[in-house]
Amino acid sequence: MTCLELNEKNILAAAAEIRAGKLVAFPTETVYGLGCDAFNTSALARVFEVKRRPRFDPLIIHIAALATLERLVDFSRLTEDGKHRLSVLCRAFWPGPLTLVLPKQAAVPDLATGGLETAAIRFPSHDGALRLIRESTGALAAPSANPFGYLSPTRARHVLEQLDGAVDLVLDGGPSDIGVESTVLDISGAAPRILRPGGVPRETIEAFTGPVAAGGDGEISSPGQLRSHYAPSKALYLHTAVEIRRLPFSADAAYLFFDRPSFEAFAENNKLSAGFREPGCGYFFVLSDTGNLVEAAARLFDLLHKIDALPAEPIHAERAPATGLGVAINDRLSRAGTDERP
Ligand code: TXA
Ligand code: MG
Repeated sequence: MTCLELNEKNILAAAAEIRAGKLVAFPTETVYGLGCDAFNTSALARVFEVKRRPRFDPLIIHIAALATLERLVDFSRLTEDGKHRLSVLCRAFWPGPLTLVLPKQAAVPDLATGGLETAAIRFPSHDGALRLIRESTGALAAPSANPFGYLSPTRARHVLEQLDGAVDLVLDGGPSDIGVESTVLDISGAAPRILRPGGVPRETIEAFTGPVAAGGDGEISSPGQLRSHYAPSKALYLHTAVEIRRLPFSADAAYLFFDRPSFEAFAENNKLSAGFREPGCGYFFVLSDTGNLVEAAARLFDLLHKIDALPAEPIHAERAPATGLGVAINDRLSRAGTDERP
């Protein structure tokens, strides 16, 4: 598989590949996507095959101009309220990490939407991604570029490690800024509903729309929101801050702390010697020293990839505070984890 630096010349080459029905992995501000022409059914079929993704799990269609909505959305099936909501949300959050689920045009292939009457649409805020979309076909179906159920890629290297040989081209644009996927918000019906927490926190959306329902307790709110997802290859146990600080030290395990104070308290409780106390030395990792949620989200999948490659098991991970981006971080961690306790 070819991996090329993200620059003008290579974006044009990648766009030609997409027009020819090929699959191209490309960076976005959230995670790397595995893109193809949203209207090319054989390319879409290959995306499902490469990802080993069930056909009922629909893809997100990425656009780079509002005018493209005409090709994708059946506005006649939106109420006046729905149209108003769409225009408010587009203005407030696009380009950016918010995906909107809307009634689809009949011409949008069923493969892209998992046979649903709706399509998920996203206008990313990544210059390279936007250029690629504009130069190719204007509408790219792109799931995250990882095998189904596994950790999402936030670097080109993660794509190469996981999908080597299966993708025609990878564009390397460096690490993703946000690090967790877009928020998926369904505005196709009477009341807006978050199907997947992500890069835009619920509170931020509610400032523009009023109260928004969130995917219910353990129920599968979106075809892709399976209980186990975003998972590393080894057991991961989730803990509160109080719990992880009290865990006994095991030389075989890896520990992913939310912030530095949690790591310090754990080291203190276990009387770890000074040489052991640096995160990154041994199997200790900290998402954000100062407990900054933006930094923690940006590092989440990268650190999980790193930990997954270590000869360490199980992984003990600390929950983030359940506000803002912490909700998306906890969603990914709980789907990466197992319910059984060690
Ligand atoms: O940040 C992102 O959204 C990344 C980057 C590459 O843009 N993409 C991404 O795609 O996360 P994927 O395929 O890994 O996740 C798409 C999610 C799935 O949970 C899927 O079930 C949901 O969106 N989805 C797509 N179409 C839908 C629809 N019509 N109704 C409900 N959920 C839908
Ligand atoms: Mg995914």
